[in-house]
Amino acid sequence: MRTALGGRGGGPALRESGLEPDVRRACSTAALDRYDAVVLGGALYVGRWHREARAFVRRFAGEMAERPTWLFSSGPLDRTADEKSIDPVRGVAEAARRVGARGHATFGGRLRSDARGFLASRIAKTSGGDYRDRDQVRAWAAGIARDLQTIGV
Ligand SMILES: Cc1cc2nc3c(=O)[nH]c(=O)nc-3n(C[C@H](O)[C@H](O)[C@H](O)COP(=O)(O)O)c2cc1C
Repeated sequence: MRTALGGRGGGPALRESGLEPDVRRACSTAALDRYDAVVLGGALYVGRWHREARAFVRRFAGEMAERPTWLFSSGPLDRTADEKSIDPVRGVAEAARRVGARGHATFGGRLRSDARGFLASRIAKTSGGDYRDRDQVRAWAAGIARDLQTIGV
């Protein structure tokens, strides 16, 4: 089986579960016919999902709806994503409905303290740091692997 998994971190957990994830950038996926399931994620910028994730949904919504699909977002530059489940932003919630996603998770993000750009450098001054929790990502991916096994994919 093949799983398109946008984003890093979950790939090893799926592989450990006997699946064969193909981890690639959303914009470098030409077609979904060789995939049995899709996990698509992207960072959040000013309340919106990464544009490549949005473009992926615009392009493949129909095919995603025909396959088990999960979505994730990464963003919060604090520990909130470790402490509680964070709902998807509106656009991601709409995408989840559109493709019939089986689940969504929000993970902590990372912003280097020397980030460039007007907004990024301002945010970095107060909130720069690495808030990614790889164990949390692995646990979520392991849950996906279990669900796929349950439904026989
Ligand atoms: C300009 C800018 C806007 C951001 N807006 C949000 C936001 O609205 N919500 C959020 O949770 N995180 C936000 N973040 C944090 C990013 O999602 C986080 O840093 C993410 O890990 C960046 O991923 P990247 O390194 O792949 O760009 C923002 C970061 C920047 C630089």
